[in-house]
Amino acid sequence: MSQPSNDQKVAESPPIEDADGLRAALAAWFAQVGRDYPWRATEDGYEILVSEVMLQQTQVATVLGRGYYHRWLEQFPDVKALAAADEEEVLRAWEGLGYYSRARNLQKAARVILEEYGGEFPRSLDQIEALPGVGRYTAGAVASFAFNAPVAAVDSNIARVLARLFDFRECIDTTAGQRQLLQWAARLVPKAGGRIWNSALMELGQNVCKAKSTVCDRCPAAAWCQASEPLALPVKKTRAAVTVVDEHVLLACRRGKILLQQEVGRRRKGLWKLPSRGVEKMPGLSPVDKHNYTITRYRVTMFIYEVEDVIAEENERWFRLEELSNLPMPSPYRRVVARYVDRRGKATQSR
Ligand code: ADE
Repeated sequence: MSQPSNDQKVAESPPIEDADGLRAALAAWFAQVGRDYPWRATEDGYEILVSEVMLQQTQVATVLGRGYYHRWLEQFPDVKALAAADEEEVLRAWEGLGYYSRARNLQKAARVILEEYGGEFPRSLDQIEALPGVGRYTAGAVASFAFNAPVAAVDSNIARVLARLFDFRECIDTTAGQRQLLQWAARLVPKAGGRIWNSALMELGQNVCKAKSTVCDRCPAAAWCQASEPLALPVKKTRAAVTVVDEHVLLACRRGKILLQQEVGRRRKGLWKLPSRGVEKMPGLSPVDKHNYTITRYRVTMFIYEVEDVIAEENERWFRLEELSNLPMPSPYRRVVARYVDRRGKATQSR
């Protein structure tokens, strides 16, 4: 048997009796209460990949309720359409979901599928995991949901369910902890296919075995569950504290145009934002407005300095207000600009 090179040994078989009984109980429960998500009504690898990438950092309510998923598939119905799109169009369609590298990677994945697989979505776990932006969880989700492959997919919901089911008291966000859960999950997937099993575990984590509350008396896995104190699990490393930062931006407008700066950093590369160029140090300028937002572990206060005229610097351009709707722009800046446009419209009307 191969041993992990890491510190802790991993038990390959989960400590469970009658795993088949659990599989049957979960499948029956899921058939009754499983929700009808659009990605559960398709076996198209691309459509499922899009859903999983959107859901990586964004809630179902946003992805579906605010129309991102359907709009995306209308605009880019298959890998060919996405591969051929302009990056700016792709970023614009992603706007509001944040973490724009996800959109860029999706497009890169579409190009790989077109070039290396002739447009046919790859079916094996390893091939899917080799696509840009796809980690082990997403690969397992796509392989099982699209192709019913008997493979594990451990997201945070499933990790919580498994940690409680096996009363696993180690940290689940260390390499060793993750490996243990993946090993157990791999042993539990029915050989006949992982689609229903992974969906049911996920649904259980979302609706029954939740992070801050549980409904154990309505849990189909209760007879198998070893947790004595489910809400104390899973154990996680302590999180990095939230950092408070200030950001100072220029709202420069002249003759119906606004000055924007194109980002060059990795995270939001290619997106347009309000210029930040040390305005807080300019003599005689003070902020006219502020806007708070959160990104990853930063709580940002954006201070806004309004000026009439400045000279565009490197990576900056003047845009007519009508052009803004086609530009990809992170939501915090979009909101500030919209507020300005709104105020300006009102001021013009009242004149
Ligand atoms: N979160 C991540 N993937 C999901 C899926 N396929 N269904 C519901 N929620 C999810």
